[in-house]
Amino acid sequence: MRKNIVAGNWKMNKDMAQTDLLIADLKNQEQTSNAEVMIAPTFTNLHQSFNALEDSKIEVIAQNMHFAESGAYTGEISASMLKGVGVKTVILGHSERRAYFNETDELLAKKVDAALANDMRVIFCFGEELADRKSDNHEAVVKNQITNALFHLEAPALKNIVLAYEPVWAIGTGETASPEQAQEMHQYIRETLVNRYDEATANSISILYGGSVKPANAKEIFSKPDVDGGLIGGAALKAEDFYAIVNAF
Ligand code: 13P
Repeated sequence: MRKNIVAGNWKMNKDMAQTDLLIADLKNQEQTSNAEVMIAPTFTNLHQSFNALEDSKIEVIAQNMHFAESGAYTGEISASMLKGVGVKTVILGHSERRAYFNETDELLAKKVDAALANDMRVIFCFGEELADRKSDNHEAVVKNQITNALFHLEAPALKNIVLAYEPVWAIGTGETASPEQAQEMHQYIRETLVNRYDEATANSISILYGGSVKPANAKEIFSKPDVDGGLIGGAALKAEDFYAIVNAF
C-alpha cells in the first residue's frame, strides 16, 4: 500500500541557529496521523539536523544533488556525500531548480539514476506553468516531464520513487490548486503510470501535492483519493502549521 507523506521543503531558509530552533519546535508537536514526516533543510544544516533528530521519527532529507559520484563540479554535492551524513531521500526536479538553474528532464533522468544507484529514495517534482494550464496543455506537459525523466526505469525501481505534483502557478503564491484540480491531475498521473507500467505499480506510488498547502486547506486536499500527502514550502517553516498539515490526514 502506498504511504501518506508530508515533507517540508525549507528551500534556502533558516541558518544554523534558526534550524535548531525550528527543530526544537517540531519535536514539541504531537503527531496524531500516520503520515511519514520529512524535513529538507539546506545542505549546510543537514548534519546538525540529523543530530538533533536522532531520537525522532522525522526523516531528514536533501533538496537536491548532483548526478556524478565526484569530480570537478565546483559547488555541487554528490549522492555519496549526502549518504555520508545520513540522507536516504532526496528531492529532485523542483520547479525552482528547473526555472532558475536550467535543470532539464534529461539532466533529471541522470540525477534520478544516480540517486537510485545509491539506494536513495527520490521525491520527484514536476508540474505545469500557468500558461500551460490556460492553454489546456497541463496534462501533456506533466506527462512529458515524468516520461522523460522516469519512464526509462523498470517497474521494480519505482518502489524508491515518490511523485510530487507541484503546479508552478501555485507555489509560494497563496493560490492553491483546488482539491478537485489536484485530484484530477493525480488521477491522470496514476492512469499514465498504469499505461506505462501496471495497476499494482501505479497503486503503490505515493503522489504528493505541493503548492500553497496550508493548515486551512490541507484536510480537503488530502481527502482526495489520489492525493497521498504534500510537499510543503512556506507552511513548513512554522512547527504548528506544519504539524497541523501533518495531522490533516
Ligand atoms: P509553498 O508551500 O510555499 O507554495 O511551496 C511549495 C513548494 O515549492 C514545496 O516544494
